[in-house]
Amino acid sequence: MTVDASSPVLDCRGLVKSFGPTRALAGVGFAVHAGEAAAVMGPSGSGKSTLLHCAAGILRPDAGEVRLHGERIDELNEERRSALRRTAFGFVFQFGQLLPELPADENVAMPLLLDGVGRADAVARARAWFGPLGIGGLERRRPGELSGGQGQRVAIARALVARPAVVFADEPTGSLDQATGQETMAVLVDASRRGGAALVVVTHDAQVARWCDRVVEMRDGMVVREWHAPAREPVRA
Ligand SMILES: Nc1ncnc2c1ncn2[C@@H]1O[C@H](COP(=O)(O)OP(=O)(O)O)[C@@H](O)[C@H]1O
Ligand SMILES: [Mg+2]
Repeated sequence: MTVDASSPVLDCRGLVKSFGPTRALAGVGFAVHAGEAAAVMGPSGSGKSTLLHCAAGILRPDAGEVRLHGERIDELNEERRSALRRTAFGFVFQFGQLLPELPADENVAMPLLLDGVGRADAVARARAWFGPLGIGGLERRRPGELSGGQGQRVAIARALVARPAVVFADEPTGSLDQATGQETMAVLVDASRRGGAALVVVTHDAQVARWCDRVVEMRDGMVVREWHAPAREPVRA
């Protein structure tokens, strides 16, 4: 497939999604380009997570379309969307959601293992992320033996290990203190950019959003404002 470099890697148009009587998305357009970091901001209940879930193929919108590299993904069946989530997308959640019984390197290797990569190869590829993300030496620790910030770095490695086109992060610093949250954002933005992935960060925190190139503000299921973030210090991991 030939892809125009100026066209967005992920392009959502006219997304509508209701849960019973609650209209979570009321016609949302949202796009992100390769190497770009976009923040989705807005108060609790404004539809941020629902937008992320529709964009990532976790939820099917009631109306509208989602394109990845120009191809509709919202119409795919659950099996094909699930395969896309393993290969084209990476995810970072608020509480890391690491598997507690597995050591960190095997947690990071999990997307590769689920995609059929051999165990030794998958673990070797997983371990290659630890040094660059500042968690070298913690490969065999279990999640319970990591600090909150270390756990999120492991989650970032897991999100990037399969070389996804888009990384989605929903309140990735929500369980961290302010300083650790800032460090985690620096690592997330820098690693995604170096991996060539577009990054979508959902947050209600302006201090988190400032790490991104662009900010999209939502209210009541609609995008009400969109702006380019002010210049900031170069990102350090
Ligand atoms: N699975 C669900 N079932 C019922 N209502 C939901 C569900 N998910 C979200 N909602 C509702 O949709 C609206 C938007 O929610 P959400 O996208 O989670 O907002 P945000 O992430 O901005 O806090 C809220 O009113 C929320 O209660
Ligand atoms: Mg949310």
